[in-house]
Amino acid sequence: MEKHLFLIGFMGAGKSYLGQRLAQKHGLLFYDLDLIIETQKNKSITQLFEQLGPDIFRQIEAETLRSLEQLPPGIVAVGGGTPCFLDNIYWMNTHGNTVYLKMSVDALLPRLISDNKRPLLAGKKDIELELFVRQLLKERSVYYEQSALIVEQDAIPDLSDKLESFFGRF
Ligand code: S3P
Repeated sequence: MEKHLFLIGFMGAGKSYLGQRLAQKHGLLFYDLDLIIETQKNKSITQLFEQLGPDIFRQIEAETLRSLEQLPPGIVAVGGGTPCFLDNIYWMNTHGNTVYLKMSVDALLPRLISDNKRPLLAGKKDIELELFVRQLLKERSVYYEQSALIVEQDAIPDLSDKLESFFGRF
């Protein structure tokens, strides 16, 4: 691979899980943007949101994203919000390939119930969670859909074939 392959999508769409599996299967490097931030700052994403606030988190996220340019190409799982702030989606499209793992609200919800790791979802359940996810997905879709490839999926399949035909180099 000559450039990073960025996996994009809402929280719970399987970016990290799928990215890891794809990388393993094809002997590629795998990077998890949230994990890199957590390791570098020695704090969880929740702590960063709480202690620094969302705006500073988005700055750190954008800087960490850009720092990936120094690393050898690999599959990168970015955060659900990454493409939607600053000009991150443009940056990813110009510095790599982007794939949107598109999942419906109905498929996402069971995967987000009882989530205790994501600051955006903290304390939300039932109808409140559903309305929040529906609204946020609607707002974010405009960014997600700027990805080079959109893969519609309501389960987490093995995407190798779809990616293979698109990029022709897996
Ligand atoms: C966020 C998604 C999270 C993480 C942070 C903010 C978002 O990543 O970056 O909690 O704004 O959607 P995942 O999509 O990997 O959960």
